[in-house]
Amino acid sequence: MESTSGPVFATLRGERVHLVELGEEHLEAVHRWRSDPEVTRYWIIQSVPTMEELNSWLRRNRESGSLTFAVIDEHGSLIGYTDVFDIDLEHRRCEIALMIGERRSWGRGYAREALSILLGHLFARPDDGGLGMHKVTLAVFAENLAARRVYQACGFQEDGVLRHDMYRDGAWHDQILMSILEDEFRSVSCRSRK
Ligand SMILES: CC(C)(COP(=O)(O)OP(=O)(O)OC[C@H]1O[C@@H](n2cnc3c(N)ncnc32)[C@H](O)[C@@H]1OP(=O)(O)O)[C@@H](O)C(=O)NCCC(=O)NCCS
Repeated sequence: MESTSGPVFATLRGERVHLVELGEEHLEAVHRWRSDPEVTRYWIIQSVPTMEELNSWLRRNRESGSLTFAVIDEHGSLIGYTDVFDIDLEHRRCEIALMIGERRSWGRGYAREALSILLGHLFARPDDGGLGMHKVTLAVFAENLAARRVYQACGFQEDGVLRHDMYRDGAWHDQILMSILEDEFRSVSCRSRK
């Protein structure tokens, strides 16, 4: 992995995918993904945002210091995005969310690679252009087995269960809280498997 620009929105390069700052030019695709019930089945928000709402979301993210990256595959195609939010520099922790929105790209190891690249950046020391995080957290629907597999493969551990945390399709669903510490990331290789 190599960083090619400043410490915050470096372009993060892996073997196949790279991450760049998500910009307004990417929002049409985000809108399409957020309109696809297959993609949002286990996403925290299922209502479809308008383009105006997506523009506001991006603006708010920038203002609050969240980092939102576009995931680009080896052909230069935009396939998803990932969000780093609640960045706490005092306690050196943050939360992430990840969406590979192009369904034809599922099952090819892109999520695993994108996550590996992102974690490398989040755990790298500020001197090396990273964020110097100690811990990265996320929440995932218990039923989202593919996502849980990706997170586990990258070294995330389960911290606990938020029981009946979401009501969807006439039923209650648990969310699993997961986290990874800097040492755990360094001892796991989840780069690319394909
Ligand atoms: C979940 C998601 C990120 C996975 O992306 P992806 O690029 O397909 O993931 P990868 O190909 O890197 O890995 C998927 C893994 O899940 C496994 N998997 C897929 N479907 C599965 C299922 N139903 N049960 C168990 N494992 C499954 C795959 O075999 C693979 O594991 P492996 O590498 O050990 O073979 C993607 O489907 C997505 O973005 N979905 C919509 C948004 C979402 O749910 N995001 C997560 C919110 S927490």
